Amino acid sequence: MDEQFSVSPDGVRYALPGQDEYGQELERLKDLVEAARERSQEIVVVMGVGFVGAVMAAIVADTVDPSTGKPGKFVIGMQRPSTRSYWKIPKLNEGVSPVKAEDPEVDPMIRRCVLEKKTLTATFVYDALKLADVVIVDVQLDYAKNEIGNVRNGHVEMNALEQSFDIIAHHIKPDCLVLIETTVAPGTTEQVAFPAMRKIFRQRGIQNDPLLAHSYERVMPGREYVASIRDFWRVCSGVNDEARKRVVKFLNEVLNTKKFPLTVLDKPIESETAKIMENSYRSTILAFMHEWSVFAEHNGVDIEKVIRAIKVRPTHSNIIFPGPGIGGYCLPKDGGLGVWANKHILGWEEELFKFTPLAIDVNDTRSLYAAQLVRDALRNMNVPIASADVLILGASYREDVGDTRYSGSEIMARRLADMGAEIRVHDPYVDRWWEFEVQETYLASRAAFFRNQKKLKDLKIEKDLAQALKGIEAVVLAVRHHHYLELDPDWVVHQAGHPIAVVDCFCILDDAKIRRYLELGCEVKGLGRGHIRRIKEGVRQTAAKLILTSGLLT
Ligand SMILES: NC(=O)c1ccc[n+]([C@@H]2O[C@H](COP(=O)([O-])OP(=O)(O)OC[C@H]3O[C@@H](n4cnc5c(N)ncnc54)[C@H](O)[C@@H]3O)[C@@H](O)[C@H]2O)c1
Repeated sequence: MDEQFSVSPDGVRYALPGQDEYGQELERLKDLVEAARERSQEIVVVMGVGFVGAVMAAIVADTVDPSTGKPGKFVIGMQRPSTRSYWKIPKLNEGVSPVKAEDPEVDPMIRRCVLEKKTLTATFVYDALKLADVVIVDVQLDYAKNEIGNVRNGHVEMNALEQSFDIIAHHIKPDCLVLIETTVAPGTTEQVAFPAMRKIFRQRGIQNDPLLAHSYERVMPGREYVASIRDFWRVCSGVNDEARKRVVKFLNEVLNTKKFPLTVLDKPIESETAKIMENSYRSTILAFMHEWSVFAEHNGVDIEKVIRAIKVRPTHSNIIFPGPGIGGYCLPKDGGLGVWANKHILGWEEELFKFTPLAIDVNDTRSLYAAQLVRDALRNMNVPIASADVLILGASYREDVGDTRYSGSEIMARRLADMGAEIRVHDPYVDRWWEFEVQETYLASRAAFFRNQKKLKDLKIEKDLAQALKGIEAVVLAVRHHHYLELDPDWVVHQAGHPIAVVDCFCILDDAKIRRYLELGCEVKGLGRGHIRRIKEGVRQTAAKLILTSGLLT
């Protein structure tokens, strides 16, 4: 069989491990664990070193035992050796973070734990689980949607998670604490994981019940990446008293719970529900904002100023603007996990949920609306969308991170290509846009919902903004990366070489910049920015006055 490779975002090709390497790798881990035990360190295996697991692993590895002043934990990040993800293991073992973010704490923390403190290593062997005192589950749990804008018609991909529980139960020691951090459908810990794992324990002749706990992540990858895990409030629960005691002890040891106390709930279904509810709450606010954003556009209102005015009121300070669609791994799916669980895990026939699925459907289709705005801005400049060169600024789902999962920009790019546009994209944090690269083999690819997608497979992320702007006909400000907040209109238009359509999807442009783009002959549109028409009229009247006065003077 051909040797298979996993390519890291910076282009390094790592050969996937062969069968003969597994034994060797386990010996390496055993030696490391033996040495760690001699130093009285607890052994923690983090399953899945993605956006959550990689940083959580580093935080645990960085903890110090207050009684000795020395590192109290030895952490093994465990990752599947798939072509898509294997590269994270060698990268971590080089002391390099597999996730890119603006938080200056991430890179040095990972380097310090791997290379200096030697409290963090990464591996591809499941046998690492046998060595663990604590296992933290940070694998993903996907929600498959069969249509855009109809979350009810989807389902939770439980197989992969159930397999993970199965593997864990077959490997761990009887008294190992298993902490599920993955966002799961309410009921999963007690009604899916617990019975399945207990059955395997019994088959293994283990009489005690698995010590299962649940505590969800509230991580916000970005500038406060580490703090959003370590220095933030946590909710936790366990399947029984022992599991609850163990999880409270563990989280008190690794997180800053003195300043951010734990909330301990009675049962895992309560902490699972808390996670799903808090994200559904947020996606509902965002969906609600969509209709007011369109209202603002239709009626000459600048939503940015309205939001600022409302936020002054402390009870309304969490009002937020949705941008061109709601992406990220969590908000587009979490409510769906709740709706699905209600029927399939908890067994209720009635269609209880209205707001939760509606919010996801509105949020999922907002980027289609944003694409219409691009079409209309181009039309106002007499440029048909078909074959127009459109540059999207920002591929990730939110500012200052490199995570492209379910980003509004992806759907916008797909919809614009659907209408025939030529797409370019620039993003300082994203090296490769895998949603497009693997669209032909990735079953859940959203390419299936649009025509004309083939060429997007070769979409390269531009790194040089000036180069990316050359000759474009439209620029879409899609993400609030700090690089885009202060872009000078004169510079942008100069690079493009002519007036362009400018579409502001995230309230990035202030009135002075909008005015300047218009003075330069550009067409400007913005989500929720109904006041642009007023500014345009002002620019037109000033230009008319100038012509008139220069006519009178000559
Ligand atoms: N990303 C966020 O901002 C965020 C915030 C809060 C909660 N969460 C939740 O945390 C969980 C993890 O999210 P993420 O963003 O880190 O996902 P991710 O896809 O970045 O990481 C998951 C990792 O697990 C690995 N994996 C999958 N199955 C495995 C297995 N059987 N054994 C070992 N490794 C395996 C994958 O290869 C991947 O690297 C999800 O449930 C998510 O909803 C994420």
